[in-house]
Parts: sequence; structure tokens; C-alpha cells
Amino acid sequence: PTARLTVNPDFTVGPVKRRLFGSFVEHLGRCVYDGLYEPGHPQADAEGFRSDVVELVKELGVSTIRYPGGNFVSGFRWEDSVGPRELRPRRLDLAWHSTETNEVGLHEFASWLEKVGSELMLAVNLGTRGTLEALDLLEYSNIRSGTALSDLRAANGRPEPFGVKMWCLGNEMDGPWQLGHRSAADYGKLASQTAKAMRQLDPSLELVVCGSSGAHMPTFGDWEREVLAHTYDDVDYISCHAYYEEKDGDLGSFLASAVDMDRFIESVVATADHVKAARGSDKTINISFDEWNVWYLDRFQKVEKIEGLDNWPVAPRLLEDSYSVADAVVVGSLLISLLKHADRVASASLAQLVNVIAPIMTEPGGPAWRQTTFFPFSLTSRLAAGEVLSVSLDTPHYETAAYGSVPLVDAAATHDQSTGTTAIFLVNRSQHEEVTVTADLGAFDAAILLDAQTLADPNDVYAKNTLKAPDRVGLSRNKTAEVREGSLTVTLPPVSWTALSLG
Ligand code: AHR
Repeated sequence: PTARLTVNPDFTVGPVKRRLFGSFVEHLGRCVYDGLYEPGHPQADAEGFRSDVVELVKELGVSTIRYPGGNFVSGFRWEDSVGPRELRPRRLDLAWHSTETNEVGLHEFASWLEKVGSELMLAVNLGTRGTLEALDLLEYSNIRSGTALSDLRAANGRPEPFGVKMWCLGNEMDGPWQLGHRSAADYGKLASQTAKAMRQLDPSLELVVCGSSGAHMPTFGDWEREVLAHTYDDVDYISCHAYYEEKDGDLGSFLASAVDMDRFIESVVATADHVKAARGSDKTINISFDEWNVWYLDRFQKVEKIEGLDNWPVAPRLLEDSYSVADAVVVGSLLISLLKHADRVASASLAQLVNVIAPIMTEPGGPAWRQTTFFPFSLTSRLAAGEVLSVSLDTPHYETAAYGSVPLVDAAATHDQSTGTTAIFLVNRSQHEEVTVTADLGAFDAAILLDAQTLADPNDVYAKNTLKAPDRVGLSRNKTAEVREGSLTVTLPPVSWTALSLG
């Protein structure tokens, strides 16, 4: 099969926002403890952070990091996580049936963020706590000095404020599993009150209200409408969360997961704009897609769930999915979906970062390695710059059980006027056939091909990187790519993700 891509630097969707390449660190399983933090490890620095993990996070190219949850945040008392370590309480974490030692808290995490060069995005607990505790955390974080909580921060070793700009008003409050789960009306009122109070303290904040935990939720659509009806004037973003997995061996549907993400984003945009119209508002609410990934949720629910009144382990192995080539192709295509919607998706977080449904894995006392999903993320984060271009694709389609007829090929492109570079990201969802893509580059000034990298495996789309074989899967140069007389041609192997850079 063949496909034709039309792309022109004059037709743009919106700027490439660095916050699209965010991630998420939750106090869950071995994400923090025995993940990014392992004091006894040979590569640990003076603060107990693994320097090999720091290097991989930098290579991944992660911008903003959401913290500390997730479901965890709905039972979290932030005060437990600051002050002298020996005085910090051990607490039950009901979300993941674990013990939270509070050995790593706000100060330690902020210090780690400085090492990796990422921005902090904080979530407040609106499940079991309320407006006052959110205000306290904000005062502790953002007020310079002269008040009880800002002075306490200084006494705890941090004279400078953390200066956190982006705040999530709770987490997945539509989910019945969430501690303090509420109806849309109850949550909308609480979120509005909390947002107003937080802005009274610091009007420059950027606030995210909880949207649905997924487009499959029974309240999806109505939840967004009702929550925004209460909070429209108080917040900047509404969140989307989406996880995908291959179900019942239906690889064709799984490879088309980004079709679902496209529809999800477009539905939330439509709903937010409906509320805007109904209110006669001139303000636009954008999306913070602050949890997205491939996640084999079924396995967690059936095999991993921890139970028992006397069984609350510290940092158990939870949600440690091992990702295949097919999973990485889906992650690459989800990034294509986020880029295509750069006009309305302002921020996004790959959930999560280390060990827990993560692009980076570690072994206690042992190595750290890149999962297959690391590669499309790091290369997209590195190459996408300037403006996202509006692309049009003439591609064959195929039938899926989950989404009907879907495009065989998907694409996104960016162009950076300041450097004259262009990046094109492509996915081939065909399970058996190569697809040759052509693009007329006539509108670009004398483009030359700088690089072409493809992630695929001719023998096994389920190949993975593991502790024993950490480099089994990686990127390789796509030798079929060429630019001749202003025309680009590239052949995409079956089940593959490709990034081209042109200068
Ligand atoms: O990322 C894992 C979990 O998925 C998060 O804690 C929760 O917000 C979502 O359901």
C-alpha cells in the first residue's frame, strides 16, 4: 500500500508546547522508592537519588512532572512529607494498599527535579481534604517568607519558594475507586471554591479541574459539562486520562488506540466549548492530558492487587508492565494524537516515569534500562519544535472491532522557523504490509533529510527490553527514506513508528 502526506509550513495548528512532554511520578509501587530513590545503590548520589535514573530521565526529555498522585493523593497529608525525616509518620496508603514511609517528600522531590531539569506540577487532595489544606500547601510552596508556613519551609531547609505554577484540583474525582469520590455537582462546587481561594492567594496559578478518568466512564460528557458549569471562570484546564491495552488478542484495535484519543480530545473540546457558548464567555478552557499510556490494567486487577489487614508492604512491585514493540508503536501514535491537537491540549503527562507503567525500569542494586516506549517519547520530545503543522493524509483504511474503519497510517509534523528544521512522525498500523509514504516538500526551502529512525521488529512485534536483555529493542535508521527533487519517500515496516528530521 501507499499513502500521500500533504504538509506546508504555512498551515499550522499551534505552537509545540514543551509541557506536552510531561510525565508523572506517583507514590505508588517502586516509582519513588527503589526507583528514582535508592540510597544504598552504587549509583546513588549523596541524597539517595540514582544518578543513572537521572541521566535516563534527562535523555527522555521530560518537561513538567505531575506529583505526588494519582489515586495516592486522595489520602495524602502533605504535612507528613516535610520536616525532619526521623519525625515523619509512616501512613497507610489506601489507594495501593501499601505503607508510605514519607522518606521522600516535597523538598526531596523538588531537589530531584532540579537534577533532571523538570518543572513541578502539584496535585492537591480534594478527596479526603479540602480548601484549607490546599491553601496551606500553596502558602508553604509559594509564599516567600513572613508567615507560619513559609517560615516553616525555610526552617525545613528551603528559603526560596518552590514557585509551583500548575496545580491539579484533586485526582479522578469521577471514579468510584477514588477516596472521597463525589458527584459532578459536589466536586464542581468544591473545586470552584478551592480554585477561587487559591487564586486569592496567587492569581498567577494555572489550575486543572478533574475531567473524566476515561472516555469509557458512564458519566463521561455529562461530568465535564457539569463540572465546568461550576468552575468555568475559576480554572484554566480540564484533565483527560486514558490508558490503552491489547485486549483478547485484538492487535488491530489496539494499534488504533490513538483514534480513541483523537475522539476523546475532540469530545472534551466540544463539551468545554458548549459550556463557553452557554455562558457567553470569551474564555477558552484547554486540556491537561495528565495521564496517558499503555497499561495492562487487567493484570493489575486480577493478579497484583494487595489485600489483608496485616499486609501493607513498602514499595511493592505494582503495575510493572513490560512493554513490547507494539506497545511502543501505540505510545508513538498517542504522541502523534497529542501533537495534532496542540491547539487545545496544553499539557500532557506520560503516566508514569519509573518502574510503574514506565519508560524507565530499575532493579534494586542493579541496572536501569529503557523500555521500548522510551524511544518514541524521547525522539518526539527532542525533534518536535516550533509549530505543529496541519497535515492531510491520503491513506488506506482498515476495519477494527473497537473503532470501525481507521486510517492505516497516521502522521504529525512540526516546523521550527528559527532553525529551519522540520520533523515528521509516522505510524504504520498494518500488521503484515509495508506502506510507502510520499510527501511533496515543495513548500519547504530546499529540504534535505537529516535523519530517519524507525522502531519495528521484523520477527516479533511483542519483543521487549528486559533485565536480561535490556537492549533487545531500539531505534534503527530507516534506509528507505530519501528526499529527491523536493519529494520525500519513506517505506514504513508493518507495526512501526518512524521519525524523520529535515533541515
Ligand atoms: O497511573 C496509575 C493510576 O491511574 C493513577 O493513580 C490514577 O489517577 C489512575 O487511575
